[in-house]
Amino acid sequence: MTGPRAHHQMSSHIAGLPELLGIELPVIQAPMAGVQDSALAIAVSNAGGLGSLPCAMLDLEALDAELAALRDGTARPFNVNFFCHTPPAFDSQREATWRRVLAPYYAGYGIDPAAAAAVPLRVPFCTEVAGVVERFKPAVVSFHFGLPSSGLMARVKSWGSKVLASATTVAEARWLEKHGVDVIVAQGLEAGGHRGMFLSDDLKTQVGTVALVPQIVDAVRLPVVAAGGIADARGVASAMSLGAVGVQVGTAYMLCREATTPVVHRTALKSGLAERTALTNLFSGRPARGIVNRLMQELGPMTEATPSFPLASAALAPLRSRAESSGSGDFSPLWCGQNATGCKEISAARLTQGLVGAR
Ligand SMILES: Cc1cc2nc3c(=O)[nH]c(=O)nc-3n(C[C@H](O)[C@H](O)[C@H](O)COP(=O)(O)O)c2cc1C
Repeated sequence: MTGPRAHHQMSSHIAGLPELLGIELPVIQAPMAGVQDSALAIAVSNAGGLGSLPCAMLDLEALDAELAALRDGTARPFNVNFFCHTPPAFDSQREATWRRVLAPYYAGYGIDPAAAAAVPLRVPFCTEVAGVVERFKPAVVSFHFGLPSSGLMARVKSWGSKVLASATTVAEARWLEKHGVDVIVAQGLEAGGHRGMFLSDDLKTQVGTVALVPQIVDAVRLPVVAAGGIADARGVASAMSLGAVGVQVGTAYMLCREATTPVVHRTALKSGLAERTALTNLFSGRPARGIVNRLMQELGPMTEATPSFPLASAALAPLRSRAESSGSGDFSPLWCGQNATGCKEISAARLTQGLVGAR
């Protein structure tokens, strides 16, 4: 036998996730921008898993406050998560096209189509952000949509943080290994939220967790964490039997008391609607998995009419807030994976323990 797999079996012991990250249970609570803050992360870390703070939508002041809350709320390791996209230049033509597509909805609500939308746009990891994170030196930093520059990577590693990053293909896993990542999060197609894809935007490259995890385990020497569709102890056991050292679970945590999931989102998750999800780029400009709602049904979930990520969300903001104020999720990103059966209105500690079969 040759190649990395042979290396695993013959010469090296791949440590389990708890050993690698200094935690008790092989469970990472997935960072989920828009539905949680430090409270969920603190609860999961204190329960022995790895709690994660999504930072893509936090400005420097909010980031500082949330990191301080985490430091004060748990003595255990936690993960701080960032996006690594390249912000696009504003393209007035694409913005105008997108607003034309949305014009009938604006008219329906009597909203001025030229309404300025002040929404927090997702920002990538950068020098200023690193300056704030450095003061806290978190045990783990994770990235979605690739990695920051090699200079910033070196800076993060110089604090002693372990670096995790999402791969949606074998090629991405190999690329991450080459660029200094410590643990790969293999994100299968079942996963809720944004696809972490960064080497290709061809959706035909995207495969399910059971197909992806063993292929990545065989292709790299790094430990691999499985993400996507894992909702209970059976899912965790099957991920481990595919060679993963742990799991990253998102959707199942969204109804937990400590999550900040908006009411319309909670209602959709509890309804039968969560059985119908699709990949859509309507809400941000990049493909993400969410519950099929009115906007996705009427425009089709994927379109070329949106501005580039993350700009598409700006024009939707007034529609979203108007609809949500009357209890409707017609224009909201209702991110959800293909397995919402793990969503329970219980504490995050109980959910975490249930994932490893403990009561
Ligand atoms: C509501 C929601 C928001 C998400 N936001 C992020 C994020 O900010 N950063 C990130 O790396 N992944 C994000 N993800 C993806 C998760 O990291 C993970 O891949 C996914 O939740 C795993 O699949 P599951 O939802 O089926 O458990 C998000 C997922 C959901 C459901």
